[in-house]
Order: sequence, then C-alpha cells, then structure tokens
Amino acid sequence: MITIPYLTALTTYFSYGLLFAFGQFRDFFRKIFDWWQASNLQGYAPICLGLEDFYIRRLYLRIQDCFGRPISSPPDAWFDVVERVSNDNNKTLKRTTVINRCLNLGSYNYLGFAAADEYCTPRVIETLKKFSPSTCSTRVDGGTTTLHSELEEVVANFVGKPAAVVFGMGYVTNSAILPVLIGKGGLIISDSLNHNSIVNGARGSGATIRVFQHNTPSHLEKVLREQIADGQPRTHRPWKKIIVVVEGIYSMEGELCKLPEIVAICKKYKAYVYLDEAHSIGAVGKTGRGVCELLGVDTADIDIMMGTFTKSFGSCGGYIAGSMELIQYLKYTCPAHLYATSISPPAAQQIISSIKVILGEDGSSRGAQKLAKIRENSNFFRSELQKMGFEVLGDNDSPVMPIMLYNPAKIPAFSRECLKQQVAVVTVAFPATPLLLARARICISAAHTREDLVRALEVISRVGDLVGIKYFPAEPNKQQLDDGRVKLE
Ligand SMILES: Cc1ncc(COP(=O)(O)O)c(C=O)c1O
Ligand SMILES: *[C@@H]1O[C@H](CO)[C@@H](O)[C@H](O)[C@H]1NC(C)=O
Repeated sequence: MITIPYLTALTTYFSYGLLFAFGQFRDFFRKIFDWWQASNLQGYAPICLGLEDFYIRRLYLRIQDCFGRPISSPPDAWFDVVERVSNDNNKTLKRTTVINRCLNLGSYNYLGFAAADEYCTPRVIETLKKFSPSTCSTRVDGGTTTLHSELEEVVANFVGKPAAVVFGMGYVTNSAILPVLIGKGGLIISDSLNHNSIVNGARGSGATIRVFQHNTPSHLEKVLREQIADGQPRTHRPWKKIIVVVEGIYSMEGELCKLPEIVAICKKYKAYVYLDEAHSIGAVGKTGRGVCELLGVDTADIDIMMGTFTKSFGSCGGYIAGSMELIQYLKYTCPAHLYATSISPPAAQQIISSIKVILGEDGSSRGAQKLAKIRENSNFFRSELQKMGFEVLGDNDSPVMPIMLYNPAKIPAFSRECLKQQVAVVTVAFPATPLLLARARICISAAHTREDLVRALEVISRVGDLVGIKYFPAEPNKQQLDDGRVKLE
C-alpha cells in the first residue's frame, strides 16, 4: 500500500482540480467560438469525442514533450535522444538534428542485450541474410522456419515446462491467449494492477472477471471462496474453470509477486495459475529463470507461464509455456498463431542467442556475470535512492524502481530537469497509474557501470531537491551516549 503524505495529497488534488477547472473554462469558450465547426460536420458525430479527449487536450498536451521522445541509437546504457522544437506551445513537436547523449534509465534492457552483443549480433545478422526480416506468412502457412521450432524448444527448456508457443508480440500473447483459454461460464480472477494486455484479454474472453487487491493473497482467497460459493451469475451453476492471473514483477510497482502464497491458495481451491513474467524472466533468479526460481516455486505448479522477449532478451515477441497438451491446443485454436505473421527470424535468433549466453552455452561466463550485475546494480541503486529520502516502491532484486512524484506539476519538472543533465527517465501518470500516484520509473540494466549509476544518483538527488520529491528526508544520525541520552549529529 502506498501511503501518500496528507499535504501532498491535498496539493495534488488541488493541482488536478485547477487543471480541470481551467480546461473546462477553455472548453466552454471554445464551444462558443467554434459553433460553426460543429455545423461543418454535416451530420457526422465528431470522430474524437469531446469529453473523452479532455484529459489529452487539457492535461497531457501540456507535458507531451516528456513522452515519446525520439531516440536515434540502440537502447543501451547511454543513448541518443533527439531534441524537438515547437512553434505552438508544445501542441505539436518537430524533430531537430540536435542530439542529446543521455544516460538511459528507462528501457527494459535488463541484461544489456538490447545493444550490440559479441555473441548475439553476428548471429542475428547472419539470420537476416539467410532468412529475411519477415516470414510474410502465418505460422500454419509458410511462417514456421527451423528457427521458430528451435526457439520454442529453447524457451520451453529455459522456463522449465514441457512445451512452448511463441508470438510476434508480447501484448498479443496475453490479449489473444486468454480468450482461447476461457470463455462464458468461466471465471478470471485478476490482480488489480495487472497489465493492460491482461485486462483486455480477460475482457475479450467473455468470462466473468473479478479483481483482487494488488498482491494480497488473503484477499484472493476471500474472492475465490465467495465466487466458488456463489457460482455463475443468475444460474449459480459451478464455474466451468477458474484462472488466477498474476505478474512476476509488477511493471509499474517494481514489486515481486507473492507467488508461493498465491500458488498455495490456487491449489487449495483448484484454480489454474496464469503467470505473466514479462519483467521477471531473464532478469531475476540465480540463472535468470524468473520469479519461480527466485522465490522457490516449482514450475510444475504454474499452469500457464507467459513472458515476453522485449525486456531481458533484447528482442520482440512473447511466449506461453505449459503442458504439451495445452500448447498443442493453443496452436490449433489461437488466432494470433493462425492468422498473424510469425515472429521475425532475426528477432527469433536474438532470443535463442541471448538465452544461450544466459545459460553459458556460448562457452563464456558472460551470462552469469550479467545476472550478478543486474542484481548488484538494482540493489545498490535502490538503497542509495532510499538513503537520499525518495519514496521508492518495489522489492529488493527487482530492476524496476518507481520514484513517487504525486503532483502533476512534478512530472514535467522532474523529467525535463533530468534530461537537461543528460539523464533520460520515464515518467508515468494517469491512466497508467491512479490519478494521485504519478511516478518516475527507473529501470536498471546490467549494462550500467558503477560510474553510470553514481552519476545518475547525483543528478536525481539534485533534481529531487529542486523539484521537492524527497518525501522521506533521512533522519539525522543519532548517536547513543553512554548515559542514555541521544546526540544528534
Ligand atoms: C506485464 C506485461 N505483460 C505484457 C506486456 C506486453 O509486452 P510487449 O511490450 O512485449 O508487447 C508488458 C509490456 O510492457 C508487460 O509489462
Ligand atoms: C515545451 O517543452 C519544453 C521542453 O521540450 C519545455 O521546456 C517548455 O516549458 C514547454 N513549454 C510549454 C508551454 O509547456
């Protein structure tokens, strides 16, 4: 639970209130002055709805220079951010040729495979020559190359399941698989902070959806008991099946899933476990095998293991791993397998090669070093941020660490000031987070050197003082005197 300081909550509400009121005021006058535009529509309804895009027009556009900044290099520890200019108060932004070389604290490049790698890159280039950028075909037509078959074997072996199927996009892996696994008469119990791809997959399935409090096993159990007792809506028949969907590391919170407790509850109530390891596979665990390895959960207890290749493996796409029977069924039925072009061959090769490095099958110990580095880097950075007085969310070992900003004015202030000092950070606000809980999200990489991190900490500390987001100032060092009194230093 995030407990927002009382005064901060008040000023945050006030800021949003002011923005809202001012926006409504401007909208009111725009309606009066633009009445003729409405009559120009000739009977069509406006394609961008007036009220729905209020947030975009009156809030997001003011700070849109902080988002979607164009990059002109690989997302390595340092990358090139292209500067933009605007002639209309940032309503539209134009690219310039000016480049700002920045320390990259935003990409999901956990193991540093996103940039050129001595083992992966030559193989990816070779694959590009041998195959092509695209198979131009679906998996069941001409889109299954030898690489695709190899990739599925490598992935199944890596995550510790009998079989796997891969897709060209991580988002689609969730949003297209859930509707195949479950439908009307089924029940999905979803963590309240699950990724949008899960939310949309669940909605698209037609199953009943219930949400449990974020990462709270006791509430999951309560919901399960109630739902099992109640059964399906109206008829009260037993549910056809129940799937509980959780993530390994929550991407906006940096938190590890309480998997052992959740698995125990699911076993007790005979509910299937669907685990999205987008941010945890490759990034945590002694050999990079994700949260099961880190938290000591047997992969046999996870029925559906999902993950993406867009983070630790520096590629694109997603996978589902499970029993032979399940994967075969998905290959017969999932529209993303039957109707979508298969994963690009060079991207597939990147995944195979990076997994080989992680496993040490490239004949070096680079994989093990990367895994040690990401852990060391993450824990160092997190503890330093906490010492400085920032409110940092998430758990140790997680490479994702959000720094709370809260107030909407602090989003652009933090982002712009960091960028000025060559540190590129990602800021996140509503609707990706609750309205009050805007944050900057730091992603640490094994590619960061200790000097990079120290430099980033200096900048973030300076900007943090400037913007006023050190919500937990460190207590002065107390020194216990012999006679029991305390001396402040
Ligand atoms: C938990 C989770 N699932 C799925 C996805 C979608 O994956 P992709 O970006 O590979 O499409 C993401 C993306 O960030 C994610 O965080
Ligand atoms: C426009 O964006 C720049 C940063 O790119 C920022 O410094 C400036 O304050 C913004 N202007 C407005 C009117 O928001």
